[in-house]
Amino acid sequence: MFKNKVVIITGGGSGIGKSIAKLFSKNNAIVCVTDIDIKKAEETSNECQNKSFFYNLDVTNKNNVKTIFNQIHKEVGFYDILISNAGVSNMKYIEDITEDDWNFNMNVNAKGVFLCNQEAIKYFKNNKIKGRIVNTASLASKIGAPLLAHYSASKFAVVGFTQAAARETAKYGIRINAVCPGFVKTSMQEREVKWEAKLRNISEKQVIDDYINQTPLGRLEEPEDVAKVVLFLSSDESNFMTGQAINVTGGIYTT
Ligand SMILES: NC(=O)c1ccc[n+]([C@@H]2O[C@H](COP(=O)([O-])OP(=O)(O)OC[C@H]3O[C@@H](n4cnc5c(N)ncnc54)[C@H](O)[C@@H]3O)[C@@H](O)[C@H]2O)c1
Repeated sequence: MFKNKVVIITGGGSGIGKSIAKLFSKNNAIVCVTDIDIKKAEETSNECQNKSFFYNLDVTNKNNVKTIFNQIHKEVGFYDILISNAGVSNMKYIEDITEDDWNFNMNVNAKGVFLCNQEAIKYFKNNKIKGRIVNTASLASKIGAPLLAHYSASKFAVVGFTQAAARETAKYGIRINAVCPGFVKTSMQEREVKWEAKLRNISEKQVIDDYINQTPLGRLEEPEDVAKVVLFLSSDESNFMTGQAINVTGGIYTT
């Protein structure tokens, strides 16, 4: 489905990003796995079945984004899909959120999406490429999540940016959408379950049961559940979609 397509994935070393990389590769795309953790990016690249590359990329660093995207252009020839997926979280009651916590979430989740989208949009426009971008937002970008106020703010920003960027670039044939996953089984979730159990003074099992009870389809989400929708939004099957933030939440209802 993605033969002769080149995909850049940020945060591709683990969880949802890793699953997206592997599914693109299975569907014949050339995958450029990037992550702030180069070892994890290399591991994902090794698990790809088609031609793939890996790069060390910190999405919060403008120069680094520019350099790596240029390097991909030089080494691979071009790119026409960007999956801006890298993200972080930490959990605290609002009164305990520090400026460092706020900046950490905002910098990776919101500024990281901005910097990567900006570089790719410039490249698509300059090279007349009808590129596709999918940004990873969250259920917490549709409904604010307790203990994650700073994270929620950063993810609402992703949806606003996605909408604005999509409307601005539609005339060039560029499409930009977002996915909003629910409770996905990844290392981020493992960390959050531990924090939440402590903060709410309940067991980790109770936290997980709570996630499942909130999910009409009745199970935790798998990274592949998200990856399948990301591939759809990157494919010709979604040619008349742009500026959307698609829930992949097992039926948890939000706008
Ligand atoms: N897991 C969930 O339940 C869930 C739900 C909704 C949205 N999301 C979003 O999905 C995305 C992927 O999360 P995940 O659950 O796979 O988490 P994860 O922690 O398993 O993977 C995140 C990856 O991003 C990388 N990363 C962190 N900071 C980076 C930076 N500055 N530059 C580049 N890479 C960086 C990490 O090294 C890691 O490999 C995130 O944007 C997250 O907010 C996750």
